[in-house]
Amino acid sequence: MDERKLNLPPETEPERQYFYIEKLKQIVADLTAELSRTPTYCVVTFGCQMNANDSEKLAGILDQAGYKHSESEDADLTIYNTCTVRENANTKVYGRLGVLNGYKKKNPAMKIALCGCMMQEEQVRTTIKKSYPFVDLVFGTHNLYKFAELLYETLTEGGQHIRVEESADRIVESLPVRHKYGFKSGVNIMFGCNNFCSYCIVPYVRGRERSREPGEILAEIRDLADHGIVEVMLLGQNVNSYGKGLEGQQSFSDLLYRVNEIEGIERIRFMTSHPKDLGDDLIRAMAECDKVCDHLHLPLQSGSDAILKRMNRHYTAEHYLGIVERLRAAMPDIALTTDIIVGFPGETEEDFEGTMDVVRKVGYDSAFTFEYSKRNGTPAASYEDQVPAEIVTERFNRLLTEVRQTGAKKAERFTGAVRSVLIESVNRQDKGYVTGRLTNNSVVHVKGDESLIGRIIDVKLVECRGFYYFGEAVS
Ligand code: SAH
Ligand code: SF4
Ligand code: F3S
Repeated sequence: MDERKLNLPPETEPERQYFYIEKLKQIVADLTAELSRTPTYCVVTFGCQMNANDSEKLAGILDQAGYKHSESEDADLTIYNTCTVRENANTKVYGRLGVLNGYKKKNPAMKIALCGCMMQEEQVRTTIKKSYPFVDLVFGTHNLYKFAELLYETLTEGGQHIRVEESADRIVESLPVRHKYGFKSGVNIMFGCNNFCSYCIVPYVRGRERSREPGEILAEIRDLADHGIVEVMLLGQNVNSYGKGLEGQQSFSDLLYRVNEIEGIERIRFMTSHPKDLGDDLIRAMAECDKVCDHLHLPLQSGSDAILKRMNRHYTAEHYLGIVERLRAAMPDIALTTDIIVGFPGETEEDFEGTMDVVRKVGYDSAFTFEYSKRNGTPAASYEDQVPAEIVTERFNRLLTEVRQTGAKKAERFTGAVRSVLIESVNRQDKGYVTGRLTNNSVVHVKGDESLIGRIIDVKLVECRGFYYFGEAVS
């Protein structure tokens, strides 16, 4: 073979990244000789499932390059995969960077990399340049697939490398992955978001919506099933608009039917559904596909029509309640969970009561509640009627009390029943127990050991303790 060809990086992806992985292997081998041990890496994930999925790709690349996986942040290469959805997510990262610098002082060969949503913000990059010179590599969400190349550059050239792109030019398939669990996995079906809810920074940091080809998704899930995965979580910021921009008529409900056919997959979950795009075809698909779990996460955000309008959500409280009614008619036992923002600019006591009203009417199994956080560059950040902090806190606490009480009451409804449980881990407090989940996502503790992890067993739900059950395996 032509020598030059061997040494020039290919122009096509993912071949180009595999070329750099080979180059990294050599560097890791040299480092191993120098340190008399294999260099370690640690990937810390902040934020949502999208980031968790991206982190698995980073880890996959580093595994192939020959680094050793570590859970400890004082590794030879530590990566923070960041989130910026709320201000406190950013504050957390800056705080922890100080700790990383301490590790680097003890191990000067250590490399620190930052990636993810926060890095897409210009002012964050400016701060890092100015105040965090010990960070070696910064990259973003759009060029994560180039990680092998960027790391190679950083390791061979030294200095601080800031490499962030403003938009995604393509979806790169077939990069290596390190799966966190052997029995369940997230699968991206789309990237980005086009909805521009007025409070939300995600469309700015994740770019426009792009769907993966169904063939690629199905092939990935078949491969996961062949490797022992029994549960998949289909991921997208708005899975209901899956397929837009692809050839032919592709819809999310069609995709569910096709995933449901895959042998070896026992449970199908998905996140997130936007109420404005949730049609009866999805409700039918959920009811008809036996593997699709009886759980839907359906973010409400607010129960006030005026606020929903200003949030740019494109639905009303009535429309939302109509969906809930149709879901329950088709699947009486379905668990419903949600996201709610308290204290959106201009929220009055009456608007907040509207939210409480919908919460009471729906009776959520659980809800993630957030205090509104002002995100630079989003329309809502410039709204003048920001709600005073003490009022937000007071409303937040009222909502939390309501949500907790309802959640505990709802959980009780299955006490005494026998249900299938996918065992996920050894119980953290009591090693004689393992912990798993029902199809509706409730947590169950059962007597047992490590050998049960990844298995689906029938369990009698003996006792409900608010948000979880104690159960007994029935054979
Ligand atoms: N795409 C998903 C959610 C992504 S972000 C959806 O549309 O439902 C997850 C949650 O964070 C959102 O549902 C919202 O409740 C919350 N969130 C987003 N931006 C926020 C902000 N500026 N302040 C407070 N909470 C926010
Ligand atoms: Fe943000 Fe709205 Fe997109 Fe969800 S749908 S990611 S809340 S803009
Ligand atoms: Fe955070 Fe980015 Fe997810 S901002 S919530 S990690 S898409």
